[in-house]
Amino acid sequence: MSRGFTGEKSPDWPTGVYKVSFSSVNLDFKFRRLKILVSGGTGYIGSHTVVELQQKGHEVVIVDNLCNSSAGVIRQIGKITGTEPLLEVFDLTDRHRVEDFFGRHAGLDGVIHFAAFKAVGESVQKPLDYYRNNLVSLMNILEAMHQQRVLHLVFSSSCTVYGQPESLPVTEEAPLQKALSPYGNTKRISEEMIADYAPLSGIKAVLLRYFNPIGAHPSALIGELPLGEPNNLLPYITQTAIGKRAALSVFGADYNTPDGTAIRDYIHVCDLANAHVLAMERLSKLQQQQKPEVFNLGTGHGNSVLEVIQSFERVSGLKLNYRITDRRPGDIEQVWADVSLAESVLGWKAVSSLDEMTRSAWNWEKYLASQ
Ligand code: NAD
Ligand code: WQD
Repeated sequence: MSRGFTGEKSPDWPTGVYKVSFSSVNLDFKFRRLKILVSGGTGYIGSHTVVELQQKGHEVVIVDNLCNSSAGVIRQIGKITGTEPLLEVFDLTDRHRVEDFFGRHAGLDGVIHFAAFKAVGESVQKPLDYYRNNLVSLMNILEAMHQQRVLHLVFSSSCTVYGQPESLPVTEEAPLQKALSPYGNTKRISEEMIADYAPLSGIKAVLLRYFNPIGAHPSALIGELPLGEPNNLLPYITQTAIGKRAALSVFGADYNTPDGTAIRDYIHVCDLANAHVLAMERLSKLQQQQKPEVFNLGTGHGNSVLEVIQSFERVSGLKLNYRITDRRPGDIEQVWADVSLAESVLGWKAVSSLDEMTRSAWNWEKYLASQ
């Protein structure tokens, strides 16, 4: 039977008017509060997702070993949502701690798994650290989920799995390419691990391939906290503008793009966070799943490095000190997402403009400077 409008003719109603029966959709409209483990929930994307989950009425427990974040984020989340989520500090590569955690937290509905190392360059220097941290954590979580019958998983993957796609915008069907770094390889292997284990264990999973998350919460109370010199474009721009860095290097202006600089699909971290909530809500209602579902999360269009700089200059009213340098080894020329699948299946669409993204990143940088 189709859900929603049943098309049933009512004898009480005038001819031609159809009675809408909500009997089959009542469950959809009834809100179900979910209890979610957010691994890496004090990190950049995790903290924004915790805010979204709480604001939609869900309960959150965070596990994070604080290797790339701080416990102070919990207080900041509390200021935004009115509720400080529970944080347990331990390393997810510790199998016994993971089993113990799941044993103590009965009634978990699902896991959103962010915790991972993510610096591409560092992963080339320390490949085993990356394989151990990112893969062992995931294995421990998958096993504990299976043991405790926690059967819904949303996993942080990356557009890095596509490399330089042959055609743009890139769809989820595009062939995956050999990873350009150990970090990228951990994402590819993680996706495969989940795909292999999910049907055996009864776990239903959504793999979210993020494009380039940027920006910060509009409250400017949480945002990205890069340790040391940032690798990513936006923190480098805002740190240069605030005076922490002398100048931004624009890595290459000789690409085959309209202004010669590389193109990416930048997405606001709050839009990204919202997609995780929708993905988890979808899983909690899904009766059956043959294999993990994969969704691209981007805006569906690309911007060049110079366009991002222009946007930053527009919203901040500042002139950014930058210079064109050589290309960065390993960088691809251009990529942006086909997001039609996330739109049609998850009912999700990114809504923030590039200026909103750069403005929120700048407000966050100014907030940090004021502390
Ligand atoms: P982040 O470093 O800010 O957050 C990750 C969090 O996980 C940190 O708080 C860290 O302390 C924690 N963590 C790492 N290893 C852990 C372990 N073994 N046990 C417990 N906690 C651990 O990173 P982020 O930018 O929020 O990224 C979140 C996820 O999204 C990662 O899986 C990353 O690979 C993926 N991703 C990020 C981007 C991006 O540009 N930021 C793009 C694509 C995919
Ligand atoms: C964006 C653009 C740079 C810094 C990385 C990871 C990828 C994913 C997202 C996790 C590029 C240019 C940058 C600078 C610059 N992360 N740039 N000067 O490289 O698209 O993707 O983050 O999964 O896996 O590789 O993001 O922010 O580093 O760079 O000119 O100082 O900005 O060349 O064109 P990237 P990025």
